[in-house]
Amino acid sequence: MTSQAAQVKELTAPVADGLARMKETIAHELREQSPAVREMVEHVGRFQGKQLRAALVLLSGEATGNTTDEHASIAAVVEMIHLATLVHDDVLDGAKVRRRVACVNHRWDNQTAVLLGDFLYARAFAVSTDLSSRLCSRVLSEATRRICVGEIEQAAGRYDFEATQERYEWVAGAKTATLYAAACELGARYPGGRDELGAKMRQFGWDLGLAFQIIDDCLDLTSSEAEAGKSVGTDVEDGKVTLPVLWAYRHASEAERAAIRDLYTTPGLSERVARLRRACRLDAGVEFARQRADSLIAAALASVRELPSSPARRSLENIASFVLARSF
Ligand code: IPE
Ligand code: IPE
Ligand code: MG
Ligand code: MG
Repeated sequence: MTSQAAQVKELTAPVADGLARMKETIAHELREQSPAVREMVEHVGRFQGKQLRAALVLLSGEATGNTTDEHASIAAVVEMIHLATLVHDDVLDGAKVRRRVACVNHRWDNQTAVLLGDFLYARAFAVSTDLSSRLCSRVLSEATRRICVGEIEQAAGRYDFEATQERYEWVAGAKTATLYAAACELGARYPGGRDELGAKMRQFGWDLGLAFQIIDDCLDLTSSEAEAGKSVGTDVEDGKVTLPVLWAYRHASEAERAAIRDLYTTPGLSERVARLRRACRLDAGVEFARQRADSLIAAALASVRELPSSPARRSLENIASFVLARSF
């Protein structure tokens, strides 16, 4: 086991059994006769992700005293939706590497990746509609809608260096915090009722997820493919103006701003991130973004402070700290 895998395993230890059941469910539900589909499913399953969202379903249930036989299935649905968003996101971003293997769009092509993503969504919702309560389908269909709107708005706002922080956070929240919030809410609320705890855990998931995306955007500028296990630098390559760059642009001179715009837009330029770092105060922008993530994590921790002390609550708190410190 790699040290990264060991770190994640330790973080989610209180729900190891539920995660094992979740994995069995996914393997079972993605079984398909078609050799072509089988090869792709095997490919995307070759390297596991961190499974944080699935773990959050289970941990939010345990930490709030709400465990059912169906929680592992909900975790499977959440993880399959997450996987579908990644397969589609890599098409949108023209990424090449994900979870240390070639992206589906790179190994096959964009058309295939769009279809595989649709296949994954379809399987996820098939599991969800088999559950005894409709809450899971309702929360996750709404979450999926918001993720799509977030990705579409992000694409519409490419190269917008004047965007406000509010607008950036709206997009980051929609595309990423939404699924974190849904996972935590479902863990605490499923099969229904428990509105107050559901809202509290939803807020925890939202703050955690938004911080997660902000850190992800920092890593896209500061990390390497070897460390992150996925393509980095794609945000700049693809015109996405993330929080560190927005800050650097806002604090730049007119000449620096022109340089930033140029190196985002000049076709065929190599090493855009390194050039960006030379052209403006990028590291100060990263620092600003990290501070924002820091305060979101403080808010997330405050949301779970009053839950009874338990290994699951401790694990939620450790995940919150991991989100800030993570390098992958
Ligand atoms: C990546 O999420 C997509 C973002 C929202 C930034 P993760 O980093 O949780 O992906 P895996 O599942 O661990 O690969
Ligand atoms: C991911 O955003 C959001 C979704 C998958 C919905 P990014 O594009 O920043 O994620 P990575 O960096 O490719 O994982
Ligand atoms: Mg991406
Ligand atoms: Mg990213």
